Amino acid sequence: MQEELARLQATALADLAAVADAPALEAWRVKYLGRKGALANAMKVLATLPREARPAYGQAANQVKAALEAAFLERQEALQRLALEAELTAGAVDVTLPGRSPALGRLHITTQTLRQIYTIFAEMGFQVYDAPDVETDEYNFGLLNMPPYHPARDMWDTFWVSQDGGGQVEAAQPPGPTTEGSSLLVMRTHTSPGQIRVMRERYPEPIRVILPGKCYRYEQITARSEHQFYQVEGLAVGRRIRMSDLIGVLQEFARRMYGAKRRLRVRGSYFPFTEPSIEADIDCILCAGAGCPVCKHTGWLEIAGAGMVHPVVLRNGGYDPDVYSGFAFGLGVERPAMLKYRIGDIRLFYGNDLRFLRQFA
Ligand code: FA5
Repeated sequence: MQEELARLQATALADLAAVADAPALEAWRVKYLGRKGALANAMKVLATLPREARPAYGQAANQVKAALEAAFLERQEALQRLALEAELTAGAVDVTLPGRSPALGRLHITTQTLRQIYTIFAEMGFQVYDAPDVETDEYNFGLLNMPPYHPARDMWDTFWVSQDGGGQVEAAQPPGPTTEGSSLLVMRTHTSPGQIRVMRERYPEPIRVILPGKCYRYEQITARSEHQFYQVEGLAVGRRIRMSDLIGVLQEFARRMYGAKRRLRVRGSYFPFTEPSIEADIDCILCAGAGCPVCKHTGWLEIAGAGMVHPVVLRNGGYDPDVYSGFAFGLGVERPAMLKYRIGDIRLFYGNDLRFLRQFA
């Protein structure tokens, strides 16, 4: 009889060795150790045995049971270990793989140019002042010595902001006889209206500021002209400010921006808000004055409109022109950057072509 028990144990252990997963293990347990399993059946034999044979058989059956239970636990543990290992291997991080580099943003060429300009003027003691993009007609023109109908207004093609149409910007309807009031809104055509705002805020202190910002003009878009572009206005007001100060500042700016050897030239010009007015040129950064297509064979490139602040403008800002004087200048931003980087078309700046933008990392 005990031989049968030994066979049962051998078969069960052989089966167990082939068990590969938890469901199969459970099936094995039911088959051999379950209430109606093989071992339970073998136990039933006990009652049919002669009395004296029972203890030995019972002892042998219990040993088989203990052996099978121990083998079951061992197999269960082994399977759990295997499952854990499989899980860890599947989700493993391969630390030898190269990392993914984050996509780095870059500064737009206009931002870079603006920052260069800020740095240069900061070193000359100029603070940065912010003025609004949407201005009244009064600030954009009137207080700058261009009352309604002043012919110089034609120098700036203007976007008027309609105030009854939900603030829509329109490229029409300049002030007429009935709208002469100066509360009409415009998208500023230049940064010069900021001059009045700074003066009114700072009076009677001396002023040395730059006013960077976007300007808007109802213009034909061409390779040289956008209808939105940046300017940097400069303004200095004090008691003994002279034209030579203006020229010195522009000269210093030109050298730091375009190279130490740059020469500056000033020409007489006209702006309603400066008197006298000048335009400043530098010798061409490509041909150094010899003449080339970029400077249209003149040898010179224009960099700024400027002049001494007109007495009317000083007075409008609150400063007595008999006591105070000042200079102002207006620099473009995109056009100088075009010169510096030899960019042939201003439309590339805001066309959002990454192949263009990436060149200025
Ligand atoms: C003015 O706007 C004057 N307010 C400048 C000024 C300030 C004069 C203070 C005197 C005292 P102007 O219209 O020339 O001037 O413009 C100045 C600069 O802005 C130009 O030299 C050019 O670099 C830039 N600019 C003008 N129009 C455009 C345009 N459509 N696209 C790109 N840049 C432009």
